[in-house]
Amino acid sequence: MAIAVDFLVLGSGIAGLSYALKAGRHGKVALVTKKSDTESNTNYAQGGIASVFSDDDNFDLHVNDTHVAGAGLCHEDSVEILVKEGPDRVRELIDLGVRFSREKLPSGKTVLAMGREGGHSRRRILHAADLTGREIERALVAQAKSCDTIRLFEHDCAIDLLVEGYPRTCKGAHVLDTETGDVATFHAKVTMLATGGLGRVYRHTTNPEIATGDGVAMAYRAGADVGNMEFIQFHPTSLYHKDARSFLISEAVRGEGGLLRLKDGSTFMERYHEMGCLAPRDIVARAIDAELKRTGDDCVYLDITHLDPERVKTRFPNIFEKCLSVGIDMTKDWIPIVPAAHYSCGGVVTDVNGKTTIDRLYACGEVACTGVHGANRLASNSLLEALVFAHRAAAYCDSVRNMEAGTAPEEYPVAAHTEPAPTHEVLESIERVQNVMWRYVGIVRTTERLHKALDEVRDISRRAEELYARRRLSAELIELRNLAQVAELIVVSALERQESRGLHYNLDYPGPDDAWKHDTVFNRDGAPCEPVNL
Ligand code: FAD
Ligand code: SIN
Repeated sequence: MAIAVDFLVLGSGIAGLSYALKAGRHGKVALVTKKSDTESNTNYAQGGIASVFSDDDNFDLHVNDTHVAGAGLCHEDSVEILVKEGPDRVRELIDLGVRFSREKLPSGKTVLAMGREGGHSRRRILHAADLTGREIERALVAQAKSCDTIRLFEHDCAIDLLVEGYPRTCKGAHVLDTETGDVATFHAKVTMLATGGLGRVYRHTTNPEIATGDGVAMAYRAGADVGNMEFIQFHPTSLYHKDARSFLISEAVRGEGGLLRLKDGSTFMERYHEMGCLAPRDIVARAIDAELKRTGDDCVYLDITHLDPERVKTRFPNIFEKCLSVGIDMTKDWIPIVPAAHYSCGGVVTDVNGKTTIDRLYACGEVACTGVHGANRLASNSLLEALVFAHRAAAYCDSVRNMEAGTAPEEYPVAAHTEPAPTHEVLESIERVQNVMWRYVGIVRTTERLHKALDEVRDISRRAEELYARRRLSAELIELRNLAQVAELIVVSALERQESRGLHYNLDYPGPDDAWKHDTVFNRDGAPCEPVNL
């Protein structure tokens, strides 16, 4: 089957949806998503969107907090754009029907409620209780469904990008219908990669199943520049419970005064950073890791029992219910927590308008590396980044009027195979990637362990490519191939950076080194590349 559209948008999180809504004003949009419409990292976002709305806040403070968290690697132009254009994009979300939490001031005036999270010098996180992402997805999906230029393709998993010529031009993508097993060719004048993150490359993660790094792997295979892949953010506080291992306990809980404690009740964050429990995320996650190694304990605890129980239940209804469902009453009990893989600061390199290094291929949201996050993302800057850069990319949508549509039918090369890949082998290989990455490429790294990981992931990658070339395609096989590809990119980037900075901590190079104050950029034509955009 071949489908021709003006815009192909891969992914229905905040990035893909907000771009599609704007692109839909200029032409026909195919919005392709690999599970059901709302399933995305966005849907699970808890804390909220950071943006300057309060009287005691200003752009300089938000810019500065972003740079401090980013440990010297954030691009100045991208950060300025993020912070200054952010409030207008958030207002657009409100106009589209997103209902953020509000609060009444003593004066009787009702205002947007602002939360606080790690690394922020002010309360600036707009939220919808602790279900911010679900509220955003609800509103954006409803808008997309009511737009007659947007056609939504659910349970359709992009396999690879269609790229032609040199310099390379993207002409669309091949897509597997995961329900029928058919492969379709989507021809598009412009392709937007909005496939989100890659948390599933690790054994323990806050991310849902969709986060398998497909966009980064596809773009890399297509020849795009990919940057800063070593900077994987581990969220300090994921619930430690055998029945709810990947559930996030929002940083906003610490923003409301939640304290991190060891088993004996003692606090420890004051020994690691002047901001204590609200230090930037890399510092808190590393401190917890160090305390767990020192004490031999399985977890540390988050204590919010000082807060009025009614306030806990109204501010964190989802977290309260989830904890209660596994026997933890957070109004009375400390919550057992451990760090888990959460966010990819690197990704497909773009300029400040979302353009990748391949013509007519754009990227935004977590899949992109816009220069905003540097070596460590500031909490709640991710939803904002997706909105701001999707909007900037959409400014180029009217250029489709002058573009030729590609319509030549193109057979997908491996679609003819009929024998399925052995499911147990595919699933075991996925687990193997996740275990290797958790064991050797986690919060604290060494060069020797990175080399071990590289041997392992290259071995898995070779086998995945063999299966891919000879067996019938399935969603799991596509994901294995992509997970192995992005795992390799993370390890190679981590080996490349011979210093410790932000989220990348290598015991063999324990400090930052100015010689490495630049992005780590690779593409498949020869690595490493010249740093881009700095
Ligand atoms: P996603 O929302 O992940 O959307 C990606 C889409 O692409 C999905 O629809 C997926 O199905 C689709 N897709 C993937 N691969 C393919 C493929 N091969 N073919 C077709 N479709 C594909 N950030 C904040 O700023 N504030 C927060 O409070 C916050 N809380 C978070 C809480 C949790 C539990 C998690 C996991 C993340 C949180 N983050 C938060 C990070 C933030 O949610 C994400 O970075 C952001 O939502 C990414 O948006 P996105 O649109 O780029 O990707
Ligand atoms: C959280 O609520 O702690 C997640 C916020 C984020 O990832 O930005």
